[in-house]
Amino acid sequence: MTRITNVQTINNKRMDYDLADGTNDVINGDKLLAIPGLIDPHVHFRVPGMQYKEDWITGAKAAFNGGYTTVFDMPNVNPATNTLERLNDKIALINQQIKQSGFPLRYKLFFGADKNNFHQIHKVYKNITGIKVFMGSSTGDLLLDDESSLHAIYALAKQFNLIIALHAEDELIIKENAQKYSNETDFKYHSIIRSVDAAKKAVSLVIELSKIYSVTSYILHISTQAEIDLICDAKSQGIKVFAETCPHYLFLDDSAYDKLQGKAKMNPPLRKIADQDYLWQAINNGIIDTIASDHAPHTLEEKDSPLCKCPSGIPGIETTLPLLLTAYKHGKISLDKIIQLTYKNPKNIFNVKDNDHIVFVNIEDYKILKDEDLATKVKWSPYSGMRLTGFPAYIYADGALYNVIVS
Ligand code: DOR
Ligand code: ZN
Repeated sequence: MTRITNVQTINNKRMDYDLADGTNDVINGDKLLAIPGLIDPHVHFRVPGMQYKEDWITGAKAAFNGGYTTVFDMPNVNPATNTLERLNDKIALINQQIKQSGFPLRYKLFFGADKNNFHQIHKVYKNITGIKVFMGSSTGDLLLDDESSLHAIYALAKQFNLIIALHAEDELIIKENAQKYSNETDFKYHSIIRSVDAAKKAVSLVIELSKIYSVTSYILHISTQAEIDLICDAKSQGIKVFAETCPHYLFLDDSAYDKLQGKAKMNPPLRKIADQDYLWQAINNGIIDTIASDHAPHTLEEKDSPLCKCPSGIPGIETTLPLLLTAYKHGKISLDKIIQLTYKNPKNIFNVKDNDHIVFVNIEDYKILKDEDLATKVKWSPYSGMRLTGFPAYIYADGALYNVIVS
C-alpha cells in the first residue's frame, strides 16, 4: 500500500490517501491536490491512418501526463470510422496499443456520419458514445453539409437514443470566404474565412434540429459570443443542447497568429479577445458544460507550411489541466468549476461509468513548459514557454500507481 500524506482535496481539506497498489511507500503530499481521473470528451488520436501524428501508445501516455484516464476519440481518421467493420478494426488496434502503452486508459468512440452511411447506425449504436457530424469540412473527409442529411441523422439519433456531437460551422459560408480570400497568406485570414457568421448559422440550425427531433446535441468547441447567446436562449427554452469549449479559445486569441503562425491554426479558428472574455463569463455562469482539449496533433513540419497548406488542429491533452489550474491560482476559475467541466459534466452527459481513479496534481511548483517535456508524438505545444503549475505527479488507476512526473 502506498500512503500519500496531507494531500489537499477539492473541498479544501487535507487528508492521507492509502492506495492499494501492492507496494509499501510513503509519499509527502504537501504540494499535491487530489482530483478524479478526468474525462476528455474530444480527442483525435489519429488511429488508423495518421499514426505518424499520434497513436494510442503516445496518446495514452499524453492523456495520463495531462490527468485524463478516459478519452472520447473522433472518427475523422483514415479511413473514417463510418462503418461497423471500420469501428471494429479501430477498436482492435486501440486495444492493442493501449496494452502496449502500459497505461489503463479508458475510451469511447464517436461514429462518423456521412451522406451514405445512415444504414450503419443500427449496427453500431450500442458500441458508440455518439454520432459525430462535421457540418463544415475539417481534417479528413467527413462532411454532412446539407439540411436533408442533417434531418435524416437527427431522426436516426432519436430512434436509437444517441447524442449527436457537432462541428458546427457552415460549409457554404466557409467556401465562399475561402474563395474570396484565396490569395491571402497571412494566417489571420483563417479567422476571417471561418467567420463568426459561419459558426452562428450552423449553431442556429443545430438548435432547431434538436428542438424538432428532441435529440440531445453536444456542440463541440464553442468559440464565440454569438454562439453562447444562441445556446443560452435555447437552454432557457428547455432545448437539449450542451456546449463544449476548449483551452485554446480561453487562453489564446487571434492576436496569437503573429507569433505562432500555423501553430495557431485550428477549426473553429481563434477569435477576438471580447469572445474570450465572454467564454469565461459563460463558464462561470453555467452556459458552458464542458472543457475538452480537442487534442488534434499535426507534425511541426506540417504546421510550418503556408496558410493554404497548413492543417488545422493543435495538441492539447497535456496542457488543458495545467492551464486551468494556473487560471485557478490566478483567481479566474474555481476548483469546483474545473472538476465540473472536465469530469462531472462529461460523465453525466455521456453516461460514463464511475471509476476510482485519482490524479495527484502538483499545484505549488511552477515550471516553464518545454516541447521536449511532452509525450504527444508531435512534441510541440502552442503554450511552450509559458510558466504553468498543475501538472499531475501520480495517478492511481485500476489498482496501480503511475508516476507521471515529466522529466
Ligand atoms: O482544428 C481542428 N483539427 N478541427 C477539427 O475539426 C479537426 C481537427 C483535426 O482532426 O485535425
Ligand atoms: Zn476536434
